[in-house]
Amino acid sequence: MKTSHNRGARTPARSAETHLGACGLQQTMKLAILFCFLAASVYAETGYDAWLRYAPLQGADRIRAESEIPAVVAGLDTSPLAASAQNELIRGLRGMLGRTLRAEPNLPGEGAVVLATLDELRRSKPQWNLAADLAPEAYWLKRVVSGGASYIVITARDPRGLLYGSFALLRQVSLGESLAAVDEKSSPYAPVRWVNEWDNLDGSIERGYGGRSIFWENQKAREDLSRVADYGRMLASLGINGCSINNVNANPRILSADMIPQIARIADAFRPWGVRVVIAVDFGSPKTIGGLDTFDPLDEKVAAWWKTTVDAMYAAVPDLAGFVLKADSEGRVGPSAYGRTHADAANVVARALLPHAGILLYRGFVYDHHMDWNNPKNDRARAAWDNFQPLDGKFDDNVLIQIKNGPIDFQVREPASPLFGALEKTNQAIELQITQEYFGQSRHTVFLVPNWKATLDFDMHALPDVPTPVKALAAGRTFHRPLGGFVGVANIGLDENWSGNQLSQANLYGYGRLAWNPDLSSQRISGEWTRLTFGTDPKVDQAIDAIQLSSWRTYEDYTGPLGLQTLTDIVGNHYGVNVEASERNGWGQWHRADEKGAGMDRTAATGTGYAGQYRPPVARVYESLATCPDDLLLFFHHVPYTYRLHSGKTVIQYIYDSHYQGAAAVEQYVEQWKSLRGLVDEQRYKQVLAQLQYQAGQAEVWRDAVTMWFHRASHLDDAAGRVGHYPNRFEAESMALDGYTVRDVTPFEDASGGQAVACPARGGSCSAAMKFSGAAGWYDLRVQYFDQSNGISHYRVWLGRQLLDEWDANLVLPRAIRLDSTSSTRRLIPGIALRPGDEIRIEGRPDGNDTAGLDYLEIVKETNSPIATR
Ligand code: GCU
Repeated sequence: MKTSHNRGARTPARSAETHLGACGLQQTMKLAILFCFLAASVYAETGYDAWLRYAPLQGADRIRAESEIPAVVAGLDTSPLAASAQNELIRGLRGMLGRTLRAEPNLPGEGAVVLATLDELRRSKPQWNLAADLAPEAYWLKRVVSGGASYIVITARDPRGLLYGSFALLRQVSLGESLAAVDEKSSPYAPVRWVNEWDNLDGSIERGYGGRSIFWENQKAREDLSRVADYGRMLASLGINGCSINNVNANPRILSADMIPQIARIADAFRPWGVRVVIAVDFGSPKTIGGLDTFDPLDEKVAAWWKTTVDAMYAAVPDLAGFVLKADSEGRVGPSAYGRTHADAANVVARALLPHAGILLYRGFVYDHHMDWNNPKNDRARAAWDNFQPLDGKFDDNVLIQIKNGPIDFQVREPASPLFGALEKTNQAIELQITQEYFGQSRHTVFLVPNWKATLDFDMHALPDVPTPVKALAAGRTFHRPLGGFVGVANIGLDENWSGNQLSQANLYGYGRLAWNPDLSSQRISGEWTRLTFGTDPKVDQAIDAIQLSSWRTYEDYTGPLGLQTLTDIVGNHYGVNVEASERNGWGQWHRADEKGAGMDRTAATGTGYAGQYRPPVARVYESLATCPDDLLLFFHHVPYTYRLHSGKTVIQYIYDSHYQGAAAVEQYVEQWKSLRGLVDEQRYKQVLAQLQYQAGQAEVWRDAVTMWFHRASHLDDAAGRVGHYPNRFEAESMALDGYTVRDVTPFEDASGGQAVACPARGGSCSAAMKFSGAAGWYDLRVQYFDQSNGISHYRVWLGRQLLDEWDANLVLPRAIRLDSTSSTRRLIPGIALRPGDEIRIEGRPDGNDTAGLDYLEIVKETNSPIATR
């Protein structure tokens, strides 16, 4: 198999090479030598290696590791997984220590890192007495001193445990943790630890923001599957043991005979890393590709078809982990076509999988997307519980109900789905979304671990006397179920850095760590990831952790506080602002904000009854305004804007304040990041800076749009006087226009003042000009323009006759073919000396259907040192 171990390897940045050249000339000078060393240590990195960089250890960490780690790695286990583990140990330690350990098949007379199952150790080293009752896939790292030699033993019940133990050991070394007296047993929290890829067979990815599919292209498995192998390694490093490789909105063709060899090739690429393939299937397959006239789950022909089809799949992929199935949801066919239940549907497929020890993850994400908005009792949030709770106990033991963390759909904040607390005789798994569909689509940095933890740690009070957090329920621990676990909808693609945003990789890492051990804190996970990914400089670590750990709250502050859910275009790209897109349609993501107030009344007393789906101790908290947490207030209650939160603030003032706070926090992230210049390799430094600067501009778009919408709806002013007053802003529609025409923007909140200007002149250009009348001084210019995806328009900004800046509007944004908040983008032109009477002119040259739109120009006192930072 082709591997790509060196892809994206750390290569000296061009700037570092230049510095080294200069240093060569002055090598006698001590300072220059120091500079050479510093410059050379800042490598350019692509992000391809993610948290598995194995960067050279420095200082005391290196000295300790050199003394603690023996020269041999003895692999007693001959399985392919143990071979991967042994190679990984050698590779990792070579990276970190610059030493290549000797690979031996047997225990040497000298000290060694020993990779052996408990059975193998019992046979070859009975005197070590290493007996333990290890769970499947668990590992034990143990220092053993025997016969004058010192060993680091990685042991387990099975080879998979050896692999996970090896990655754990490497992680500890990378983090600078001592192995001198290591004695650590670690078991996975649950047997199912999967990722789902929503990859289509044509190579596109539903809700993917990190490039095209690493699995598929042109309806076939890609020729080059080396990325799959590398991804398998990343997953193994986290203990993830299954991966569904096609969109949950499954193309029935995936089960046709000609796809089997394709799937087998992908399984081969994953196999050395213990990642088992899962297939997403379509419930109508017996009819669409099976040639039957029915897909009724109770029809014998249908059952036989599933059996034959599954048998054929297992003949080629004997370790297939199972299927995932989305039925009767969002237009997918399901058992309702024949008046059958979800249990009937799940069981017919599960029974075909059972002889092969395969399992079925049946999605709990079933709801009616044609609900009547006018009926105040209708509520999509009720759907999962209403559909599945009555069927508790009716599903076979190799079925798990895959339940999204919240009752709606990965919104910026939701309560835990009540279904977690309602299934006692049915296996379940929690579904988390790693890909940032409603969280800024990798263009915004949002570290999701604290969000997931809020659900995982939430006590559902499913039993009277013991805590029953969601994690325990999902893992099957609370009701002693045979199966349970975690599923994460992954965020990777062919982009060099996998995720489209360097910092978004932390979400995949965090998901995997939580699936192994959901008791880990967000701080611990962020700290690990940052050190592994960006090195151990405390200044770097503190800055990145501070950004990551506050990023969810920040994002919530500017996109949907108080339980309003993400106020995005829910019928469009799920990215830009559109406060009313959720209303007056059947999709059920309603917040019911109007002139008088906001929020869905989901109480049992007067609302939809959703709150009553929780066990009484939880239901009571949500039912009452007195106890409902502010963060979820508008999810559970409809209140007037003047309603006072527990904090004493009115709802409307909180909406205003949180949006200003959120936008200011992102501006702060930019400054925090800039403080890392020279401490982070140039390539990633620049990429993250550009991403955060873009995010800061977008956060402002969100801030203004949402606050303007609520201001217009409520007629209540912002006590701080910000909303509707933008003293440094010059609207394009009020400038002297040459060629540009004024357009009303829809929805109005997507442009400042509800209007913008567009240039209709194909082949020509338009301009908007204003006269500066402020005091002479240094200023930053912020040009708010529209970067549509249907053309690459060009902008130039002039100060009198001096060209200040020019750029192509060519960012890769979600589909944005109009002037709206998705295309709305900020260009910063820092450090400009302005004098009263100066003319600033913005020129736009349209291209294709991109109209070189302009929203406004903001002229603000220079906020920063004049050092170029773009
Ligand atoms: C969301 C998402 C869809 C996806 C669905 C699912 O609605 O927008 O793209 O198919 O969830 O989880 O099935």
